[in-house]
Formats: sequence, structure tokens, C-alpha cells
Amino acid sequence: MKNYALVLAAGKGTRMKSETPKVAFPILRKPMIEYIVENIEKSVVDETYLVLGYKREIVQDILKDRAKYVYQEEQLGTGHAAMMAAPVLGELEGHTFIMPGDVPLIWYKAINRIFETHFENGNDLTVVTAIYDDPEGYGRILRNPQGQIMGIIEDRDANEYQKTIKEINTGIYIVNNQKFFKELSKLGNDNAKGEYYITDMITIMRKEYKVGTYTVKNNSLVMGVNDLYAISKAEKYLREYINKEHMLNGVSMINPETITIGHNVVIEPGVIVNPNTTITGNTVIKSGAIIGPNSEVHNSVIHENVQVKHSLVYDSEVHMNTTVGPFAHLREHANIGSNNRIGNFVEVKKSSTGDNTKASHLAYIGDAEVGSNVNFGCGTITVNYDGVTKHKTKIGDWAFIGCNTNLIAPISIGDNVFIAAGSTVTKDIPSNSFAIARSRQVTKEDYKKFLIGPKADKEEMDEK
Ligand code: UD1
Ligand code: CA
Repeated sequence: MKNYALVLAAGKGTRMKSETPKVAFPILRKPMIEYIVENIEKSVVDETYLVLGYKREIVQDILKDRAKYVYQEEQLGTGHAAMMAAPVLGELEGHTFIMPGDVPLIWYKAINRIFETHFENGNDLTVVTAIYDDPEGYGRILRNPQGQIMGIIEDRDANEYQKTIKEINTGIYIVNNQKFFKELSKLGNDNAKGEYYITDMITIMRKEYKVGTYTVKNNSLVMGVNDLYAISKAEKYLREYINKEHMLNGVSMINPETITIGHNVVIEPGVIVNPNTTITGNTVIKSGAIIGPNSEVHNSVIHENVQVKHSLVYDSEVHMNTTVGPFAHLREHANIGSNNRIGNFVEVKKSSTGDNTKASHLAYIGDAEVGSNVNFGCGTITVNYDGVTKHKTKIGDWAFIGCNTNLIAPISIGDNVFIAAGSTVTKDIPSNSFAIARSRQVTKEDYKKFLIGPKADKEEMDEK
């Protein structure tokens, strides 16, 4: 017998006030639905189904073949969404974990515990509940004096007394497939919204089957996200949780409340993260590295003892002992060797450098393959774009490029080349050469008398 999961994710998420489907909304730069599917994958669930509707292609594009999909053309309520899966899941022997697509902080261990309780109690339907100090907006759990669950009343359908109930419906259930999906056809839509509520299944099922509850202890795990304020709250919980894990694992964080680390980031013990720093995507930071302050690192690998200060590093790799910043920008597969210095206001795009190379100030290095021990003078630019196509620059080892040099690509500079400051280089330079490409200086002596204005030679003027 298998365990299944069914995620209800067809809604637009009207309260988000956005065209993006709610479940595709990012939390710490990762779509909400990915957190959910990742945790379901880690749990005892064998197969995952999603109910999709509004802009389904966006969600499918995020998850690809990690789930199976059923469609709900018109969003007539959570019960109606579940009905869309009845033809598939209703036939399969087993139990299904049903959850909304807007509860992103669910944790796989919690899923497993809910399954355990469901089986231990021999339930046909388990409702996952939580006790909230501020239950507004959630469905409330109705119990009889013996404490058994009798039903769920939605916030908008609740009377004054029912609104004071603090036990809420998390929207998460485990159901016995064959029993639940058969009974589902009995759902009606006689309520404030005229929708088919999955929550009405409690009253329907308890007549013939065993319905029980599971109450979570950690409320943040089951928070529902309905608007952008809730996104910020979810990020705050997640940030605190992730940062704590890293700190317990040996990562120093200065002012951790200003530091955001994504879900899939790997940071080795011995790393220091300074304030106002965001590290996201599939990033790896190796030991001894110092990241921040005021930096962003996304989808990148930062090797041992690298320092990144006041800088942006996207989709790039930086090797050992290199310093990046202040105010540097590495992007699109920049691959920086070890012991480099990528300094003040230097941008590196789609380029690689060997070891011991330096671009300390004000340079643009794009589409370039750069050797070791190269020195980029202040203001060096690889002129890679002719308005139509991008062209490559190749620079050998030990090249010394004088300040304010333009290297007009495509171009190849050999090893041990010395380029004079201010050169605009348009032709390849073979190894061991000196190149100078600027107009000669003309100096005209005794020129003051020809000048006008305050610099003019006053005596000469007076004589006239
Ligand atoms: C729902 C519950 C409420 C619970 C809360 C927990 C119902 C009627 N109410 O309310 O008791 O406290 O979740 O967060 O179930 N969806 C579809 N198709 C639809 C409608 C919704 O797929 O036709 C999906 C949405 O995309 C969303 C999820 O179901 O991911 C929940 O829908 P939402 O409208 O957010 O329900 P709530 O009002 O939060
Ligand atoms: Ca919701």
C-alpha cells in the first residue's frame, strides 16, 4: 500500500494582488511550491499529485516531472479541487496527505509524524489543527463536549462565539483514499462563498468513518500564506531557522537578523558572514571565507579564505584566498582563480582568470580568458560588444596592462606583454612584446602668450 500526497495549488491567490500564481511566489528567492514538494519528497510519501489551474504552466515549469498533475479549470473551492483528483486517487488503495499549496514551511518530519498518528489511531480522516492566539482568517475546529471533532467552520461563515475558538484548521489532512474520494461526491456549496469546501468532509465522513485530529506544536510550520505580508513573515521564520542551524554548525554571523541564507546553501564551519548579506540559490561557501558586509552571493561557489565585501557574486566561482570588493560585481560564470584581487568597482562577466591576477580598481572584464599573474591597471576595459555581437579577449600570463587601456575584442594578448597606459589596442600582441597605442604627446613651449582668459600672459597683453 502506498502513501500519496495531493497539493491543492490551482488558485490565483487574489489576496497577493499579483499576476503570479501564489504557489510560484518566491520565499528567499525560491518558489513556495518547491519547499512543499521538497519536503514531501523527503517524507514517507511515495507519489505526489498537484491540482493546478491558474497559470498552471508556470507551476509545471518549476516542478517538471517531480509531480503528477490534475487540472481544475474553474476554481470552485478546495473541495472541488480535491474532486479533480478523485478519478485517479479514488481508485488507488492507500492514504493521501492533502495540503494547500500555500503552507510553505511544512517539514518532512512533521509529515511523517502525522502519518504515524493517522495509522496508529486507525483514522480514515485525520485533520491537522493548531492553536493560534490570533486565529482570524482560518477555519475553526468545532468539537463536542467529549472533545471529538464535529466539523470545521470557515472564518467568514462563523458566528461570534465560533470566532473566539483558537483551534484552527491548517488545511492539512490525511485521508483513506477509497473512502474519502467516494464520500467527496456528497459535498455541496451552500456557504458564504458558494464554493465546495473540503472542510465540510469532516461532518460528512464522521457519520460512517473514523475522523481524528493531530495538533501541531510548532505553529510556524503550518502558517498559510495569503498575502505579501505573510510572505515576509514566512521569510522571517525561515531565516531564523536556517541561520540558527548554520550557527550551531560553526558559522559565525554578525547581526544575523540582517542576514538571509537560502534553503539550499551549504556553508562550511569557520565561515564568517557579516551584516546585510544575502546568500541564496545553490551556493557553497568553503571554510575560512568571509562574506559581507553588504553583499549578495547567488548560485556560486566560494572557496577557502576568500573575502567578499560590499559586492555581488552571481552564478560564479571564486577560488582560494582571493579578495572580492569593495563594490565588485561578478556574474554569468565568472571563474576567478586563487590569490586574485578583484577590487573597487570591477565587473567581471563570463570570464576566467588564472592565479595571482589583479584588477584592483575600475575595470570591466567581459568574455575574457585571462592567464595567471596578470595586472589590470586602473580603468582597463575589454571592449567586447560592437553593438551586435559579443567578442572574446584572450590574455596570457604575466601581462601588464597599463591604466585606462581599451582592449578591442576579438583580440589576443600573449604572455609577458606590457601595454602602455592609455592604449586602445586593436591588434593582437605576441608574447614578450611591448605595445603602445595612443597618439604621441605634443608639447608646445612658451605657449602662455597665446592663451586667453585668466591664464593668458598679462604682461604681453598689456603691451598691445
Ligand atoms: C483554507 C481552509 C481553511 C484553513 C486554511 C489554512 C477551506 C474551505 N478552507 O482556507 O479552513 O484554515 O485553508 O490555510 O478549505 N485551491 C484550489 N482550488 C480552488 C480553491 C483553492 O486549488 O478552487 C487551493 C489554493 O490554490 C490554495 C489552497 O487551495 O493553495 C487553499 O485555498 P485558499 O483559498 O487559500 O483557502 P483559505 O481561505 O486559506
Ligand atoms: Ca490559504
